[in-house]
Amino acid sequence: MQEINLVPKIIFGDHALDYLKEMVNERIVIITDHFISSLPNFAEIKETLAINNTVTVFQDVVPDPPIENIIAGIKTFEETVPTVIIAIGGGSAIDAAKGIVYFACKVNTQIDRSSIYFVVIPTTSGTGSEVTDFAVITDKDKGLKYPLVEDDLLPDAALLETDLVMELPPAVTADTGIDVLTHAIEAYVSTNASPFSDALAEKAIRLVFENLPKAYAAGKKDRAAREKMHQASTIAGLAFTMASLGINHSLAHAIGGTFHLVHGRINGVLLKNVILYNAGLIDSQRCPETDRALKRYSEIAQMIGVTVKNPQFAVQQLTQNIQRLLKQLEMPQTFSEFGIDASQYAEATAAIAQAALKDRCTPTNPRKPNISDLEMLLKRTY
Ligand SMILES: NC(=O)c1ccc[n+]([C@@H]2O[C@H](COP(=O)([O-])OP(=O)(O)OC[C@H]3O[C@@H](n4cnc5c(N)ncnc54)[C@H](O)[C@@H]3O)[C@@H](O)[C@H]2O)c1
Ligand SMILES: [Zn+2]
Repeated sequence: MQEINLVPKIIFGDHALDYLKEMVNERIVIITDHFISSLPNFAEIKETLAINNTVTVFQDVVPDPPIENIIAGIKTFEETVPTVIIAIGGGSAIDAAKGIVYFACKVNTQIDRSSIYFVVIPTTSGTGSEVTDFAVITDKDKGLKYPLVEDDLLPDAALLETDLVMELPPAVTADTGIDVLTHAIEAYVSTNASPFSDALAEKAIRLVFENLPKAYAAGKKDRAAREKMHQASTIAGLAFTMASLGINHSLAHAIGGTFHLVHGRINGVLLKNVILYNAGLIDSQRCPETDRALKRYSEIAQMIGVTVKNPQFAVQQLTQNIQRLLKQLEMPQTFSEFGIDASQYAEATAAIAQAALKDRCTPTNPRKPNISDLEMLLKRTY
């Protein structure tokens, strides 16, 4: 049995931020990072909210939010006892807010999660975190990224405002856009995929291939491409909330925890080899798992315009199209291009593979990997 809960409410289209004007007499805590809090758009949002509410800003979130961010945020939470939490930022600010709300309610048993209205306003088009029950928190000491998966992490409202992503720098546009593609592909081939998640994943994949190169090349000149990428990000988030992800993300979490590289960039490097492995095309493995994956990936190839003569050829074409897209976006295709030292990488391989095997995303990967499969993938992607 599977269940789909259609939360949160999604607000999008022109003047989406007007939704915030409906808030009156609330104690609001905005959770964000220093960069976002310095933007004119942020000042405008804060001023609008401050007309009818009390507003406190917690702006200390750093990329890949560590446990320390959550602890500091809980302190602000306890001092203000908010009725509304608003996360504004990329996946890092959103995940930090999710962690703060979740753990603040856990440690203060008198505060009930249902008494807090949790609004998320993404400023990157990537993680889909505004609609997911995921949050990724980093333990810096252990070099690990923990994906939390809990219903209580789901925001109540996701607000998509294109204005906030118009100025995204090209590199962030590329990295976060490839994260969207990875979410949609992994959701589509997941062992938990359903016609509901398929519909969303398929749309997100089409939107990324049509709009990411335009959003990257045209920057703020192509509002339509920016808007579509922002929607694709949320759509892919909905798809993977329903279907979950796979080892591309398991490995990305472990690699990100070890080498502190940008999440979407890691995903991009891994995609080709993870697809070929899942489809049994690296080790000529034929079994029901790889046959199903081969079929699902060839359907994705068809979505992006590949004529499917045979599934093997289609999947090879899919990976070539992905590599071409990475090149267009000037993204690395191997980990050596990040400047990671070869011996440091080799030394870390066993621990990364172990962490990836235990990751929350591994059970829904289309093919069940063992430790040497993951180590092989890490070697091939260096
Ligand atoms: N919760 C989930 O479902 C989920 C899914 C995938 C990834 N993640 C996590 O999300 C994090 C990555 O999030 P991200 O890719 O959005 O990046 P991010 O939030 O770390 O932001 C990257 C950089 O872009 C800047 N930035 C954000 N918005 C901007 C804007 N509009 N203009 C200019 N700069 C802007 C930020 O200040 C930051 O310096 C990772 O920790 C990853 O593990 C979470
Ligand atoms: Zn991701």
